[in-house]
Amino acid sequence: MHAIEQREAEFETEGGLQVNGLLLEDAPVVLKEAAASEACSLDNYLVMPDESMDARIAAAREKLGADAIILGHHYQRDEVIRFADFTGDSYKLSKAAAETHAKYMVFCGVHFMAETADVLAQPWQQVILPDLNAGCSMADMAEIGQVEDCWESLERLGETGGAGIIPLTYMNSAANIKAFCGERGGLVCTSSNARAAFEWAFARAGKILFLPDQHLGRNTAFAMGIPLSEMVVWDPYQINGGVAPERLRAAKVILWKGHCSVHQRFLPEHVDRVRREEPGMQVVVHPECRWEVCQKADALGSTERIIDLIERAPEGSSFAVGTEIHLVNRLAKRFAPLGKRVITLDESGCLCTTMYRISPQHLAWTLENLSDGHVVNRIRVDEQVKHWARVALDRMLEVGR
Ligand code: 13P
Ligand code: SF4
Repeated sequence: MHAIEQREAEFETEGGLQVNGLLLEDAPVVLKEAAASEACSLDNYLVMPDESMDARIAAAREKLGADAIILGHHYQRDEVIRFADFTGDSYKLSKAAAETHAKYMVFCGVHFMAETADVLAQPWQQVILPDLNAGCSMADMAEIGQVEDCWESLERLGETGGAGIIPLTYMNSAANIKAFCGERGGLVCTSSNARAAFEWAFARAGKILFLPDQHLGRNTAFAMGIPLSEMVVWDPYQINGGVAPERLRAAKVILWKGHCSVHQRFLPEHVDRVRREEPGMQVVVHPECRWEVCQKADALGSTERIIDLIERAPEGSSFAVGTEIHLVNRLAKRFAPLGKRVITLDESGCLCTTMYRISPQHLAWTLENLSDGHVVNRIRVDEQVKHWARVALDRMLEVGR
C-alpha cells in the first residue's frame, strides 16, 4: 500500500471515522494504545533548564519518525529552531504544510501560522502549536465584527458595486478574516507575494481593501506606482473608518489601521545613523516596517528573501537588518566566518515576544506527549471557516511568489 494511503487507513482504524466524511471535530485525537494513560503536565517541564530539554526533544523526535514534522519560522529562538525539519517564511511554511504527508505538524511559530496549516492540511493530519499563547498582536488588530462593519459601510457607499473592491488579507490574520476574503472573491498574501496578489486583485477590481497591516499594504501599493494620495487608512474605532466618503471613493487602496509592533520600532533615524556611521553597509528591512523606513532602505524582503540576499552577497559585504532580533543574531553568527557582517538596524533589538513563547520546554512537552500518543494543543479551524479560508489560500498559492 502507498505510504499516504496506509496512513489514512491507519487513522481510520484508530479513530473509527471516515476519512472523507470529515467529522473531525468528533474524532478522537489520541491513538488507541495511549488512550488509557494521561497526558503529562506542562508544569513539570517549565521548571527545568533549557539545556536539559535537548536530549529529550531529540529522543521524542526520533521516536515519532516520519509521523511528525516540525515546522519552524525564522523568528524562533536557536534552542527551538535547531530541531525544525523545515524552516521558512510564512509562504514557504504554508506550502510545506500543504505538501507534507506527516500525520502531525508541530508548528513552531504563531497562532495564525498553525491555523493556516490546519486549513491546508488533509483531514487525517493534525496541527499542534506548542504554546497556545503564541499569538500575533498584528493579527489581533482586525476582528471579524470590525471587518464586517467596514464592508457594510463600503456597501452603503456603493463601493462594492461597479468596478468593485477586493478584500485582500495578509497571512498575519485570523482564519475567519481569511475566510471573509475568500467568500468575497478575495485572497491571502504574504510579504513575499504581496505584489503578485495586488496585481491579481487589480486585474479583477478597481479597489483593494487590505487587511490588517497598513505598512505592508502601503509599501506594496507604492512600489506599484500608486501614490500615497490614492491610499486611505480605515480606523475600525472611528465612524466610517474616520475617512470622508469622497476620499474613500477616490482611493485605490483602503489600508486597515493595523501594524506590527516589532517592525514599527524601526525608524528613519536608524537608517540615517547607519548611513552616517557605517558607509558601504546595505540596509535591508522587512516590508512590515514603516513606509519612511522602507523608502530609505536599499532592499525590502520577507525573512526568507533577507536570508537569500545575504547568502548571495560577496565576501566583505555588510548589512544592517530591520527585522526580528533572533533572525538577525543568527545571521550575524552564521555569516561572520564567511566574511560578511550583519548587525541589527535598531541597536536596542526588536523582539517578537509571542514567537519567543515557544520554548524548548513547550517543544519537549509537545513531542513527548505526541510520542506517547497524546495530542496536546491541537489547532482546529471550524469547518465552515476552513472552507472559505482554503479558497483564499488556494488563490494565494496559485498566484505564487
Ligand atoms: P515572513 O513571511 O517574512 O517570514 O513574515 C512573517 C512575520 O510575521 C513577520 O513579522
Ligand atoms: Fe506578528 Fe510582528 Fe511577531 Fe510577526 S513579528 S508574528 S507580525 S507581532
